[in-house]
Amino acid sequence: MKDAPLYLRPRVDPPLASLLGDVPFLHSLVDVLGSPLNVLLPEVVADNAERFRSVYRRHRLAGRVYFAHKANRSSALVRRLAACDPAAVGIDVASLEELRHALSCGFTGNRVMATGPKDREFLWLAARVGATVNLDSAGELEQLAELVRTYGLGRVDVLARLSGFESDTGHGGVGTRVLSRRSRFGTPVAEIDELWAALERHQDAVILTGLAYHLDTTGLEEKVRALERCVLAMDECRARGLAPRVVDVGGGFGVGYVAEAGEWERWTTALSEAVLGVRPPLTWRGHGYGLRNEGGTVRGAAALYPAHRPVAGPGYLDQLLSLPAPVLGRPPATLLLEHLNDLYVEPGRALVDQCGLSLARVLDVRPVGVGHTRHLVRLGMNAGDVSLEEHGVLVDPVLLPRGDLRDEAADDGPVGVHLVGNLCLEADLITRRLVFLPRLPRAGDLLAFVNTAGYVMDFHAHHAQRQPVARTVAVTEEGGARRWCLDEDYWPLTHPQGVPS
Ligand SMILES: Cc1ncc(COP(=O)(O)O)c(C=O)c1O
Repeated sequence: MKDAPLYLRPRVDPPLASLLGDVPFLHSLVDVLGSPLNVLLPEVVADNAERFRSVYRRHRLAGRVYFAHKANRSSALVRRLAACDPAAVGIDVASLEELRHALSCGFTGNRVMATGPKDREFLWLAARVGATVNLDSAGELEQLAELVRTYGLGRVDVLARLSGFESDTGHGGVGTRVLSRRSRFGTPVAEIDELWAALERHQDAVILTGLAYHLDTTGLEEKVRALERCVLAMDECRARGLAPRVVDVGGGFGVGYVAEAGEWERWTTALSEAVLGVRPPLTWRGHGYGLRNEGGTVRGAAALYPAHRPVAGPGYLDQLLSLPAPVLGRPPATLLLEHLNDLYVEPGRALVDQCGLSLARVLDVRPVGVGHTRHLVRLGMNAGDVSLEEHGVLVDPVLLPRGDLRDEAADDGPVGVHLVGNLCLEADLITRRLVFLPRLPRAGDLLAFVNTAGYVMDFHAHHAQRQPVARTVAVTEEGGARRWCLDEDYWPLTHPQGVPS
């Protein structure tokens, strides 16, 4: 008997939907450039930056939106952002190469924020070009100060990244100590006094312009607490003669991948049932995504990204700024205004939401299992080319039939398939989930993995077995016509009529 389909269909907004609807165009790109192939819409990243800016305006806040470059290697996206209002949009770089890339794409040093752990070369170049250094630790501060003195660099703007926020919820006078998510980055709040002392000691080399955090959680309350703690810590700094004026709340605003809440709820419920054995497995070899059956009870936590999110991206920032802060009771936006603080954000995933898709050609389809009700679909890509699984993101690909095969396709209805990659490796599954497609694909069809620009399309891409890594193209529209170029050839310019790109 065939499995009843359990879809997790993607959320697709108009510009990406229009691209996805142009099936002959996408097939022609893969015919020319091969499979896998990444397709980006640089205009969408600028629209997303504007959506973040509109939240700033709504709350009357000043400050910059810094794109966390690590989310995507593309030049087109970085160049398009470089063309945005310099006062409004910057870039967060987490390596020497990302810094070099940002500068070569048109960002001036004063629009760059250097985050993450840094080596000497990265620190030197960041200081040399006038970037803001988001200090990971007191040790990094010592190293930066030494470089500034040794090489006669100007004073460097720095943010101090804090972590290990602890708060007293204080309900009914009986406080509960709450510790935020642990992080191996940043200075723990418990060690803040030593950090202030170090910043005072190095005032000839650095200027403390603000405090920062980045919490790897979707929990809003945890972030509100951290933001409030930063505002309070800024007052402590001022009392010591330091003059910070910015709170940087990092990234983590999130993306909604799955369109319908109902599909997400049905699928996650079915996963628990499958783990308990009351329905057939939904995954390759009964993988439980962190859930397990202990004597008839589901235990463990599903290691999954919350793929359906009613509020994400700019909407999440809006909520973060609007919830009451636990100690002072007023929303963070009000606290920032009252203290005359600017706001920095570093969205990665959310800034490239709906900016692109990854295409794979179907190479082979073969039945498996009892009664041949399921199929293995082998793709011209591997798990590194579309690392949805690595990030716990579960969402269906979209089937794009090859035009010349479409007519002869018997409509055999929805079918459950296992998507396997092009490596000679048992573990090379595009996803361990049984994926339902509206009909059985055929060799030559394409599968489009939608909304892959954030960490999915190139973060884990590799050259194992000398398989090709995806090329990336940028697609733009001019005068109603769709144009494409290789990512590296994109510049944010319009083309005079008749001049090829
Ligand atoms: C310091 C910092 N800022 C921003 C980001 C971007 O996070 P996201 O892509 O979830 O917005 C990260 C992600 O790891 C980070 O470490």
